[in-house]
Amino acid sequence: MNYQDESTKANQSMSLWQFLQNLRYALRLLWQTSPRYTIALILITVLQSPTLALQLWFTKIVIDNIVAADQAQSVQLTVVLWPIGIMVVLYLFTNALQQLALVLNKHLSDRLTERLSDAILQHANRLDTSFFETPHFHNSLQRAQRESSTRPIDILQQLIALCQSIVTLLSLIAILLQYNLLVMGALILAALISFVSQSRLAVWEFMVFNWQIPTVRRLNYFSYLLTSKETANEVRIYGLGEYFRKKHQELLYAQNAEKRQVVHQRALRGLLMGSISTLILGGIVTWFANEALHGTLSIGDLTLLIAVTISCSNAIAETVNGVVSIYQAGLFLHNLEDFFMFEPRLHAPADPKIPPSSLHQGLTLEKVSFIYPGQSNPVLKDITLSIQPGELLAIVGENGVGKTTLLKLLTRLYDPSSGRILMDGIDLKEFDITLLRQKFSVMFQDFVPYMATVEENIGYGDLASLDDKEAIRVAAVRSGADAFIRTLPHGYQTMLGLVFSNGFELSGGQWQMLALARALLRNAPIIILDEPTSALSPSAESKFFQNLRHLLAKGQIGIIISHRFSTVRHADRIVVIEHGRIQEIGRHEDLMALGGFYARMYKVQAADYFASLGNFSDKEMP
Ligand SMILES: Nc1ncnc2c1ncn2[C@@H]1O[C@H](COP(=O)(O)OP(=O)(O)OP(=O)(O)O)[C@@H](O)[C@H]1O
Ligand SMILES: [Mg+2]
Repeated sequence: MNYQDESTKANQSMSLWQFLQNLRYALRLLWQTSPRYTIALILITVLQSPTLALQLWFTKIVIDNIVAADQAQSVQLTVVLWPIGIMVVLYLFTNALQQLALVLNKHLSDRLTERLSDAILQHANRLDTSFFETPHFHNSLQRAQRESSTRPIDILQQLIALCQSIVTLLSLIAILLQYNLLVMGALILAALISFVSQSRLAVWEFMVFNWQIPTVRRLNYFSYLLTSKETANEVRIYGLGEYFRKKHQELLYAQNAEKRQVVHQRALRGLLMGSISTLILGGIVTWFANEALHGTLSIGDLTLLIAVTISCSNAIAETVNGVVSIYQAGLFLHNLEDFFMFEPRLHAPADPKIPPSSLHQGLTLEKVSFIYPGQSNPVLKDITLSIQPGELLAIVGENGVGKTTLLKLLTRLYDPSSGRILMDGIDLKEFDITLLRQKFSVMFQDFVPYMATVEENIGYGDLASLDDKEAIRVAAVRSGADAFIRTLPHGYQTMLGLVFSNGFELSGGQWQMLALARALLRNAPIIILDEPTSALSPSAESKFFQNLRHLLAKGQIGIIISHRFSTVRHADRIVVIEHGRIQEIGRHEDLMALGGFYARMYKVQAADYFASLGNFSDKEMP
């Protein structure tokens, strides 16, 4: 099976202009992270650069001085002591600089990684829910997270190394200049061939990385299926473990084979380039040796020139590597820039309104229709509805008719595709989004069981009340959770979930009661509960619904989505959604009298209920 995302296969090379842009972007990132460390690192590296040439030069002096002393038949140690002394000092100096550079490097890369990972999370947090429902977003996020945060520091390191090799190269050229420049020409030619071949490889490697991201995500998913607590039971019961493991292994083999192709190519090209430069070097050294044989060069000169030529060849190779690595790091950095290009789709106007603290007219939906991004069929069609302050509204309907979707529109997690939703007569789009969301307290159908303490699980409903133990306890009493919380080993302080140490696991219904308490904690003018009792026992459920009206504060709008018709009958109005439209609306009695979908479903459920009790009779139906 091919899990690659085709859209990533295009557009992966980079113009010189883009390359320079990426370079600038990387340097700006580093500069913003820490100008001090950046400058210090550059200075220290530059300081190290000429030391190789100096070392070689003083080696030549030592040899020349020995030869001269030998010819003069003098045995004075001082002629070699001073150049050796300078070499020792140079070595000590370089070593100290190298150690310092290592420390600075770690500081700078830590700060950069901290900064970038935070920026990525911050950006993800800015984006609206719809992004999290597309593979394109997840691929981009994965690309940004996996490599990009280490690449700017790579660029700096490579850039510094590049400067270093260039300075080294220049100092070596300065030596060679006194002898023969033709040598340089030969060395540079070899470098150019190597550059062209390597840069192509760098682009290919980058493309393979990008193509593989969807596969990497799929691999992570199989790995999650095989290693997480949530999936452990089902995987064992259905015997899916081996099946998923094999899928994981197949994908991993295919992925590694693709990566190995790059490595093989690199080895082949390395072999070819290495052979070319070795042959060139051999030729140059033979030529210098010939000069020495003819007495044109001293032994010191010969030693120096051989060392300089080899160092020059190394420095050129490093320069080529540096440019190619920077080029490649630039490509990777582009992934990071791509990710930051995602802009939220939900906008507030430049001068957003502040939502009312209490509602006077309530919520109004005017001909609201909605199509999920990328889909063609509308989920909701022409929904027109007004909800008064203090009203308890129930929404019922078959699976997949759009009840949860309606909730998402009301809370502005999505905007309607057409029509408007008004709060006290003002379009939701005109409000500040964060302030608007504070007006809702929502219990989602797929609520989150937080691996945190009981107190935190409830407190997350209103961060301002996280430390308000009394408010948290009251919310727990209202949701019915208080009774079981008291029996937990550390009461409200009990750590939940078995993934972290000292955790305690709750039952499905207990988690649901906690989620309900979380929704009840927030003192918002609108509370929406999506299937709040689906995991509760009939007695807990019935108790909850009997109290429901008392749970609502004065003037608070309550919207409850449920499949259990017996539980919603006490609502002020019941909305029946069918095929994305409002089919029926009214009080329980009205809808029963209407004899439509609601009445039918109500009777079916009631019949089932009483049949299960074994004493079904029409008269006793609630
Ligand atoms: N993020 C999404 N992207 C695309 N389609 C979606 C998305 N979420 C839901 N849908 C589709 O929208 C339709 C309505 O889904 P919704 O979750 O609103 O149904 P529901 O009435 O809440 O159902 P249930 O009673 O099962 O909770 C479904 O057909 C579903 O496939
Ligand atoms: Mg739903």
